[in-house]
Amino acid sequence: MQKLLPNKVIIVTGAAGGIGAASAEYFSAQGAIVALTDLQADPLQQTVRKINSQGGETISAVVDLCIEEQVANFFNQVHAKYGKIDGLMACAGVGYQQTVLETEAESFSRVMEANVLSVFLCCKHAYRLMQSAQSGSLVLIASRLAHAAYPNMTPYIASKGAVLSMSRSLAVDFGEAGIRVNAVLPGATETPMQIKEIAQSDNPVEARRFFENQTIIGGLAQPQDIAQAAGFLLSDNSRFITGTGVTVDGGCLARIFEGAAQKEI
Ligand SMILES: NC(=O)c1ccc[n+]([C@@H]2O[C@H](COP(=O)([O-])OP(=O)(O)OC[C@H]3O[C@@H](n4cnc5c(N)ncnc54)[C@H](O)[C@@H]3O)[C@@H](O)[C@H]2O)c1
Repeated sequence: MQKLLPNKVIIVTGAAGGIGAASAEYFSAQGAIVALTDLQADPLQQTVRKINSQGGETISAVVDLCIEEQVANFFNQVHAKYGKIDGLMACAGVGYQQTVLETEAESFSRVMEANVLSVFLCCKHAYRLMQSAQSGSLVLIASRLAHAAYPNMTPYIASKGAVLSMSRSLAVDFGEAGIRVNAVLPGATETPMQIKEIAQSDNPVEARRFFENQTIIGGLAQPQDIAQAAGFLLSDNSRFITGTGVTVDGGCLARIFEGAAQKEI
């Protein structure tokens, strides 16, 4: 069967973590050369070893994506080695759960830097190196929480709204260079970030059931579900799609919360 991403050079950030690692593996299995970054050296190396053992080609580096010089250096290194960059999946990010009154300015800024500034810097340097090729695709990982909120996550939810808006804005700015930009909005996905959030709740069993029952399809998303949506947006099959968001949440946002629906009646 024909592969989805043959010989495409794709940078994946957050490649040590759940969605990023699964995406890197999936893109590699679909024929891509994957350039992997994360802050965490050991788990990043685990992703690299797994892909290499399956015959995939990788390049990797530990990068703090909030530091522009580090981002620029890694992207330059990838471009110098392969002569091109075809795509970016900007997946790295941090979670956050505190009330508004508990949130100091410094914590708010830290979440914005990790979730918004890092994405901006990656897109900026991808564009710098991709524009002359007149083609390419950038996929930014936002969240369904860009559209609907949970309590006590304001910095995170604001950051994901910003990522969704940024994908539209960059689609406009990069369109002339033939570079498409889209967002993927995952629902609750079974990754270390989500498992930590569930574990920190007062009743983890109930919390897990709460997330599972929200979807029409049932259960949590798996990292592969997000990887496959991103893979489509990075592929030439999505050549006419730009400036939009694809929600991968098992139908959660499509359904009115049952308690609310009963109140309406
Ligand atoms: N898991 C979910 O339920 C869910 C839902 C919606 C959106 N998302 C989003 O998907 C993305 C991936 O989430 P995940 O669940 O796989 O999380 P994860 O914690 O497993 O992975 C995130 C990775 O980003 C890396 N990272 C954070 N800051 C960085 C920085 N400054 N420089 C380099 N790397 C950095 C971390 O080291 C980590 O490996 C995140 O943007 C998250 O907000 C996740």
